[in-house]
Amino acid sequence: MKVLGIETSCDETGVAVYEDGAGVVWEALYSQVALHRAYGGVVPEIASRDHVRRLAPMVERALAEAGPPDGVAYTAGPGLMGALLVGASLGAAYASARGIPALAVNHLEGHILAPLMSTEAPRFPFVALLVSGGHTMLVEARGLGDYRLLGTTLDDAAGEAFDKTASLLGLPYPGGPELARLAAKGRPGRFELPRPLIDRAGCDFSFSGLKTAALYAARELDEADEDARADLARAFEEAAVDVLVEKSRRALDAAGHDALVVAGGVAANNRLRETLQDRVQSRGARVIFPAPDLCTDNGAMIAHAGWRRLAAGERPGESRVRARWSLHELTPP
Ligand code: KG4
Ligand code: ZN
Repeated sequence: MKVLGIETSCDETGVAVYEDGAGVVWEALYSQVALHRAYGGVVPEIASRDHVRRLAPMVERALAEAGPPDGVAYTAGPGLMGALLVGASLGAAYASARGIPALAVNHLEGHILAPLMSTEAPRFPFVALLVSGGHTMLVEARGLGDYRLLGTTLDDAAGEAFDKTASLLGLPYPGGPELARLAAKGRPGRFELPRPLIDRAGCDFSFSGLKTAALYAARELDEADEDARADLARAFEEAAVDVLVEKSRRALDAAGHDALVVAGGVAANNRLRETLQDRVQSRGARVIFPAPDLCTDNGAMIAHAGWRRLAAGERPGESRVRARWSLHELTPP
């Protein structure tokens, strides 16, 4: 079975084709980052209009080069309503014209299942740390569509905290990768930032206090002092990573599993990768990261999640896009 995947939940237009045995056979990604940079964040209306411009030509190329699919999978949420509607409308219309199923895929499930595309794929059950610009959560994945929330952020998402802190250090949007680059030049020990909730039981996160502490520290800085900015970036990154790693370790213990899958844009962060390997892998658990281009938003993870569900016999239900759609509302195929 060959599945066409469409991702338009935020500021990336992603199209891919996933096929049994072969995996991802076609893939294209268009990032709107340059369009939104001037505004310091994603502008929903600009995002929707640009998806309208980009998506149809990308789908046409996919069909011409990968051949006609047997099913369509589109991101139906969570995300920006207008942006989601573009992918959902095109996906459902094409599928209806061809008489093939169009499946509404949950974006978060797409992220969590992305590591299953790799050659060292984990098996269910495993714990997933999902860290992106909009979400930060620890989830026990017991099977396809069977997820239990172990912890979530009480305020900002980890990626959002990276982006906001980067912005107050004068770095362009999206700031996560920029902050990581600056932090690599920083030295440890100059700034002491809090690690919110690290001593509290459970797996919930909070990042707003860390972000505010970074704000106060940044205010004292001389803007021209590049070394001090790098040191502060490093202190922020270390604090954020410490919290993510400690809570992941706790989630593995709580769920009693020995595999941790890391997904979402922040999973591209090198310090997070290294620290998890250091502190979690060394305790006998396996840490699985998707390739960096599968960590951030893309069409392949949607094609893949849709393919799994269609291959398991699921048939499309109600077609509805949702700005909010939690993982625990999902059911197995
Ligand atoms: O999963 P994603 O592409 O989009 C959402 O669904 O949110 O994640 C994007 C987020 C942004 O906040 C971005 O700054 C962050 O991932 N990010 C990083 C890195 N690369 C991307 N954060 C820290 N370090 C990185 N290397
Ligand atoms: Zn995402």
